[in-house]
Amino acid sequence: MCAGAVLLSQTAVTGEPFLVKPYLQLGDAPELAKQESLVLMWHTSGRSVAWSVEVRTAKDSNWRKMSEPQATAVSAPAGPPEVAGKYGAKKDGPGSAAIPVHLVYRAALTNLEPGQEFSYRVLREGKDVFSATGHARKSARQSYRFVLFGDCAAGTPSENAVAYQASLAHPDFVFIPGDIVYTAGRISEYRTKFFPVYNADTPSAERGAPLLRSIPFIASPGNHDTALQNFPRFPDALAYFLYWDQPLNGPTMSSRAMKGSHVAGASEEAQHLFEAGAKPRYPRMANFSFDYGNSHWVVLDANSYMDWDDAGLREWLSNDLEKAHSAAFRFVGFHHPGFNSSKAHFTDQWMRTLSPIFEAKHVDIVFAGHVHNYQRSHPMTFAPKPQPDGASKGPKGEVAGEWTLDSQFGDGGKGKPKGVIYIVSGAGGASLYNPEQENNQASWQPFTNKFISHTHSMSVVDVNGKTLQFRQVSETGEEVDAFRIAK
Ligand SMILES: [Fe+2]
Repeated sequence: MCAGAVLLSQTAVTGEPFLVKPYLQLGDAPELAKQESLVLMWHTSGRSVAWSVEVRTAKDSNWRKMSEPQATAVSAPAGPPEVAGKYGAKKDGPGSAAIPVHLVYRAALTNLEPGQEFSYRVLREGKDVFSATGHARKSARQSYRFVLFGDCAAGTPSENAVAYQASLAHPDFVFIPGDIVYTAGRISEYRTKFFPVYNADTPSAERGAPLLRSIPFIASPGNHDTALQNFPRFPDALAYFLYWDQPLNGPTMSSRAMKGSHVAGASEEAQHLFEAGAKPRYPRMANFSFDYGNSHWVVLDANSYMDWDDAGLREWLSNDLEKAHSAAFRFVGFHHPGFNSSKAHFTDQWMRTLSPIFEAKHVDIVFAGHVHNYQRSHPMTFAPKPQPDGASKGPKGEVAGEWTLDSQFGDGGKGKPKGVIYIVSGAGGASLYNPEQENNQASWQPFTNKFISHTHSMSVVDVNGKTLQFRQVSETGEEVDAFRIAK
């Protein structure tokens, strides 16, 4: 049954053409191609009207019409009247309001020149209603820059300031290692805290910046985005699977690999509407890999409902990294950091069990968030040790083991690090954790090299051939850490 179509006819056309203005996504295109593509998305309320998108590149000054945009009807019923939940219940009161049907459009922007700027315009019934400049994915021979911050769309002044700083850095893309939208990754929260900030019409430290219309954002889900408790309480949660469009080349999920269901306990109507809107992205889009420039990226779902001891998942990760052996850099991004010195979330260490795979496959940097500050580890290797009962981790997620640190690789870098560098860059907007630990080095774990928790910040990374320049930049534009890798 297409519930969306029934509701559509009841919805009046509004004067505003967009509920959410156009934004770029990587789409299901994991590999670099000579003729690059991106996906342009936008949301509208009201009935379906004729939309088209045209693209113009430097090579061809004529506007080129793209294939017809595809619309998906998305809506959600009201939440249950009595809500007592982990996320959002206190702030948002009981239940969640129904989300009226709206249309989520996707248009493939094809035959882009790798690394080149292009212009696009969106036409509604033949009339130009939106135009912007986009940036196609860089080829393996081109240098590139990305910005990375997690734990961000919390509706704070610092979220806006970090977004503004990101725009000043002119990155080729932004990566968010989870906790994208607070407090429960809901449609209603995307509309107030995410799109208006990262797709603001003009750049300012107070309001955000027009990033999303020009470059793709890429993200892994955090606990606030896809926690199992969210959806039965807030049927407009799990918007990650409705509003993002990323590669679908991840592992197929067995019941052992994912412990529990996101939608169990919700009403049949809520489940049906979500599945119709999220198809074919749910649940596969939470784990994927892609190439950018000369680098290979693996994006993982680190939520506690995932079992990264699962042989199938580990094999997929290992094979994916193996296939990327010729990439100049290998990066992994996920939410929960294995190596964290903050008192906050200290025992959320379960992703440590993947360290032997990262090391064997020569991963350069692992990026995480979850902990709302900035931390950089020494380059390191880690040999996990099972718990006395044979389990890989303790009851709270703690993982014992032995690390070997390359403490010679310090500020500015000494060339090639011996081991994997683990970054926590979770200071993108939500309130900071453990500022008292910044100047108390005795409170840090031995693997921690830098710990900055007095300011919100983002990572700015330049990849140029076999060198990588990393900078951590505060919400006011101050460089608070830097290092360089030269292979
Ligand atoms: Fe988190």
